[in-house]
Amino acid sequence: MKSIKKMVLVSAFAGTCLTTHAQATPPAIPADPAIEANIRQWLQRMTLEQKIGQMCEITIDVVSDLETSREKGFCLSEAMLDTVIGKYKVGSLLNVPLGVAQKKEKWAEAIKQIQEKSMKEIGIPCIYGVDQIHGTTYTLDGTMFPQGINMGATFNRELTRKSAEISAYETKAGCIPWTFAPVVDLGRDPRWARMWENYGEDCYVNTEMGVSAVKGFQGEDPNRIGAYHVAACMKHYMGYGVPVSGKDRTPSSISRSDMREKHFAPFLAAVRHGALSVMVNSGVDNGLPFHANRELLTEWLKEDLNWDGLIVTDWADINNLCTRDHIAATKKEAIKIAINAGIDMSMVPYEVSFCDYLKELVEEGEVSMERIDDAVARVLRLKYRLGLFDNPYWDIKKYDKFGSKEFAAVALQAAEESEVLLKNDAHTLPIAKGKKILLTGPNANSMRCLNGGWSYSWQGHVADDYTQAYHTIYEALCEKYGKENIIYEPGVTYAPYKNDNWWEENKPEIEKSVAAAAQADIIIACIGENSYCETPGNLTDLTLSENQRNLVKALAATGKPIVLVLNQGRPRIINDIEPLAKAVVNIMLPSNYGGDALANLLAGDANFSGKMPFTYPRLINALATYDYKPCENMGQMGGNYNYDSVMDIQWPFGFGLSYTNYKYNNLSNCSKLILQI
Ligand code: BGC
Repeated sequence: MKSIKKMVLVSAFAGTCLTTHAQATPPAIPADPAIEANIRQWLQRMTLEQKIGQMCEITIDVVSDLETSREKGFCLSEAMLDTVIGKYKVGSLLNVPLGVAQKKEKWAEAIKQIQEKSMKEIGIPCIYGVDQIHGTTYTLDGTMFPQGINMGATFNRELTRKSAEISAYETKAGCIPWTFAPVVDLGRDPRWARMWENYGEDCYVNTEMGVSAVKGFQGEDPNRIGAYHVAACMKHYMGYGVPVSGKDRTPSSISRSDMREKHFAPFLAAVRHGALSVMVNSGVDNGLPFHANRELLTEWLKEDLNWDGLIVTDWADINNLCTRDHIAATKKEAIKIAINAGIDMSMVPYEVSFCDYLKELVEEGEVSMERIDDAVARVLRLKYRLGLFDNPYWDIKKYDKFGSKEFAAVALQAAEESEVLLKNDAHTLPIAKGKKILLTGPNANSMRCLNGGWSYSWQGHVADDYTQAYHTIYEALCEKYGKENIIYEPGVTYAPYKNDNWWEENKPEIEKSVAAAAQADIIIACIGENSYCETPGNLTDLTLSENQRNLVKALAATGKPIVLVLNQGRPRIINDIEPLAKAVVNIMLPSNYGGDALANLLAGDANFSGKMPFTYPRLINALATYDYKPCENMGQMGGNYNYDSVMDIQWPFGFGLSYTNYKYNNLSNCSKLILQI
């Protein structure tokens, strides 16, 4: 059941009523006495080195035999396992081997080897974490779902829960127990390269979707994560989506009320619904890195909410306190600051000096034994809750629904519900069968573009190598309308991948598309962005590329009706070409079934129902979110001081058309509605 209005109305109220009396707050997750007794026993008999090892997380690259892997496929290095697990007692590993998705059998084999080593050397299982961001990102042949921003556009909690449940099942099919998802950053700055990873700009939508995803990932009982579920890791705590410069991992300046009411809201709700872990925002807010912020980490999250879950850093972020932020003179001091602020596990991730430094800090009295025991208890608790002590690895044969048609149908439904119809003048859509279609633009025949980042690889650049089973927009339209009715002439193409050059385009061939338009009844221009992820996705101009805008302008001159299909991770500015189009569909990043979904929608075999999860800007100096203040939209004041301030946006939050006409009447007073919710 979709209820967009309810979501919007209560947004401003989310996350406000929080008690400050820790004693009075019931535990966010009820403690399990048997688990707690086991933890106490471990803490009594573990050495300091063993305890610190549990707080350390290393990337799989460090324990990989890279040379042999290059020749024969991925394999681990026994010698490095001896150092990392044998000597340093490291309790957690992360990331995908060799930087690309692996078969589930390969995963299971590697994790079995890691777990056997861990149980032999430490007697405590390792916890392996992976970024399964939109479905099984890193397990080949699994089910990919639309990116978070698309799931936000569905406004469908149940679909979000189901997609997380399927992703958990398929993650477990590779013996992996922990996913670094869901992403509940509020994407409130359209310049930001990670806009597409979360559920949009609104705290309530992120809260509802985040909670649904946690339930889907973890199942009903956070103390007993079953065979088909994984531990969720909410990220990135918090306020990551509003960097002042618009660039990834650059400082924010968030007011206390926005932090409390908006950015904190999804974490508050998810923790209350049993979220087992949280990853910290890499950034700096009002001068203080989040990884050093004791108030936000320990007070707000652990004490105020009486939450016994685990806080893990993001990639290398303790080191960053020294090398990037300069709030610590040495790496050792950075560790002291972060652990004392409330970090339980450091995603180091390339070396083990964290263990040596932290040991020295404890011996010097700079970090208390109490803090270490608290952090280790949280790590062990997570491992017990996941059942890893009893089953550090398992037989993967029972996961026979992996990559099934049943799962694919849910991903297709999600893609259909997530693509947003923004304009449909003169009923240009649906396009009748038998029409000749010119398909153009750099995104028309690319699985990489449909998927975006976190797809088979971090930057998503290898997606086309692994997705032969799925349809690009071109292939899906050929299936739907017949190949003879589709003229494919891209006009603009992206340059081949080299050093994260996602924005580069080849020399345009616009004249070829224009010539081809003569044969067509209608033009579908698939424009937008190529895939990128995190900091490499930074940009300095949000305007859509000049080549792509020129392509649309040249095609408009032919007089043929144009449908714009926007396939992009963030809203690129298109105010000069939007008036040239009869219809506009914002498909964002709908993933492997996004081409089929689009074909169904364009043909009218499915109806549009997606709504904008963010405000689409019209002008670069007018970036906005829907929850602006009255003074931002007041027209011109009378008198001498004729200030003016108007919201000038392309499409508002919540906007989305369909093939159905709706008439609203007899609306009742808003305050009454709020009371009913
Ligand atoms: C990202 C996180 C991710 C982590 C581990 C970081 O660079 O910011 O979102 O979970 O890497 O891969």
